[in-house]
This record gives sequence, C-alpha cells and structure tokens, in this order.
Amino acid sequence: MVPIMSLNWLEARHPIIQAPMAGISTPELAGAVCNAGAVGSLGLGAMNAEAAEETIGNLRSRTEQPFILNVFCHSNEPSDLEVEREWLAKLDAEFVRFGAAAPESLTTPYTPYQDDLDMQALMLREKPAALTFHFGLPDRNHIAALRKAEISLGATATNVTEAQIIEKAGLDFIVAQGWEAGGHRGMFNPAAKDEQLPANRLLDACLSVTKLPVIAAGGLMTGTGIARAIGRGARACQLGTAFTGCPESAASQAQRLWLADKNRQTVMTRAISGRPARGFANRLTDIGEEAGDRAIPAYPRTYSAGKALHSIASAQDCHDYGAFWAGTGHAKSRPMPAADLVTNLVREWKEAASE
Ligand SMILES: Cc1cc2nc3c(=O)[nH]c(=O)nc-3n(C[C@H](O)[C@H](O)[C@H](O)COP(=O)(O)O)c2cc1C
Repeated sequence: MVPIMSLNWLEARHPIIQAPMAGISTPELAGAVCNAGAVGSLGLGAMNAEAAEETIGNLRSRTEQPFILNVFCHSNEPSDLEVEREWLAKLDAEFVRFGAAAPESLTTPYTPYQDDLDMQALMLREKPAALTFHFGLPDRNHIAALRKAEISLGATATNVTEAQIIEKAGLDFIVAQGWEAGGHRGMFNPAAKDEQLPANRLLDACLSVTKLPVIAAGGLMTGTGIARAIGRGARACQLGTAFTGCPESAASQAQRLWLADKNRQTVMTRAISGRPARGFANRLTDIGEEAGDRAIPAYPRTYSAGKALHSIASAQDCHDYGAFWAGTGHAKSRPMPAADLVTNLVREWKEAASE
C-alpha cells in the first residue's frame, strides 16, 4: 500500500471546505472561496468530461489556490420497468396540471464515474489538489493511477463501515456526512439499512475506527459549529447549505426564496432522484411519501421525471417539484458573497475556539 499522503493542500488554508454541489457549485463560487483562504469545490457528478473540462478551466482562470473536484460513484442499479411505468402514471396528473403529459419512459441522465473513462482521463490530466467520491469508490486500478498522479483522495462515509472501506482502499481522508446534511446521502448501498447518524456521533465514530483525517459535514452553518467539530477532532469542516445562498452559486431565484423562508421544513426523500437526499419538502416529496418507498424507481433514472416536471412547472412559475437540496441548519443561512461568508465563519470559529 502506498503511504498516506498528507493533506498538504489544506495546510495553509482555513479548515473550511465549500462542499461540492452538483448543479449549485460554480467556478465563481469555488474561486471566491479559494481566494478568501478556504477551499472551494466543484461538484462534477452530473457532467460529462467536456462540460467538466470547461468548468475546471473556468475555475483555474479565477484562482491559483488548491481546490477539490467531486464525482459520483453510484452503482448502476437495474431498472424495474414496471415500477418506472407506475411511477410515471402516478406523476401524469401533475404534468397535466401544466398542460403536458408524463414522459413515456425514464432515462439515465448521467454515467457513474467508474464507467466514464473520459472523466477518469480528465481527472488524471487535471490533477486537482484533491478529488472526492460520493456514493462509493472507483476500482482499485484507477485509485492507484490517481495516487500515482499525486492527487489527494477522499470519499463520503455515512457510517463506520464505509469509513473503514475508504481507509482500506488507500484513500487519504474521509468526509463524514451526518444525517443533517443537505443533498444526497453518500451511502454506498442505498438499499442498506441507514443508521442515520448525526454529524457529531458519526465524527466521533469515524475517529475511533480510522487513522485517516476526517472532515465533518452536516448541519454546520456557523463558525461556532466549526469550532465544535474541530474541537472533537475533525481536520476540517465541509459546508454545503451555508454556501447555497451566496450570490455566486447557481441556485435559482425560487430556491433562494425558499432558503430565506425560515419556516420551511427539510425531508430525506427518494422521490426526486431515486436515492435518499435531504431537501425542502414539496409536492413531489409528498407524492413520494404517500406512494411509499417501493413505488419509487432507482437512482438516477427517477431524476429524469423530476427534472422534466420541475422544468415544465417552473416555466409556469410553480416551484413545487424542484430538487431544492438543503440541510437541517438552513434557517441559519446567510445569503452574502462567499468571501464575506468565509470571513465571518473564520472570525466566529477563532472566537469560539479561544473561549
Ligand atoms: C445543494 C447541495 C448539493 C450537493 N451536491 C453534492 C455533490 O454533488 N457531491 C457531494 O459529494 N456532496 C454533495 N452535497 C452534500 C455536501 O457534500 C455535504 O455533505 C452537505 O452539504 C453538508 O451538509 P450541510 O448542507 O448541512 O452543510 C450537496 C449538498 C447540497 C446542499
């Protein structure tokens, strides 16, 4: 086994990572975070190599500081065409509300990283300071090639078993994603029983079973929360929801309004994409709740119906079907430029740490 690389890209930076957020993180956001002294990320999970290359080039034109790239390693679950047909029949009434009809079938909107050789070649060419995997890991040979290219490697764990798999696979760090976290749960096997560990308990549990540096994620919105996680032993903290409201993100106007509404509730749902993810409750998550888990097709094919419905409805100013991912801490969101948010988080973290 190659010796563990140090996280040298993190050493001279504030221990704050702007989470990779497919569809939300932009070069503008990641560049502003990097230039403010923290670590920006790009979520490339839903992109092909061509779009990813352009996005990375855009980020490089904005900053010379280290950044993280992130990809999805979901397993290709077999599609159950009967479940898909019934799900589309259920959604048809929603499409009809907007003068449309449900699509005939679901489609696969993007390819897992482990099957996308162009994306793999791109990562080896781009050599980001760090690359993280969500939903699982690529194969051993590719991990070895990335390590040879001296790319620091991390992956999301939602429980101790996943943390141990990540360590055994020879990666450099773990992103411990608590139940509070916005966005998709990075669990390797979405069919497995979920222990639903909150961020603090997961952090403690990971630190007790692995020697790897652990990055805390889930529900962190302020420097005080960051100070607590670092006090418990986290090497850094990864924040998604906190950065979603920044003007540099790709969040839609409607998503920003929902984020600013402190009374909204988040739910963990499979109804939007087919995998558990936390976001604001809406008409589509209610339909999923009523239908029950077995009525919802697999990831990522379910996404194609949700995206089509959201696109038709939002064009008519109805935003009740969107994937507005957000964590349980969303009420503490501060919609300010990313550099100002980093400055505030660092000040609060230092104040809390010195108390
Ligand atoms: C809008 C949104 C999109 C996300 N997309 C990704 C992604 O593409 N890849 C990934 O590894 N994590 C993704 N996440 C999860 C984050 O990495 C992180 O676990 C989470 O944001 C932490 O919880 P918080 O949102 O409460 O800060 C996303 C989170 C949000 C809020």
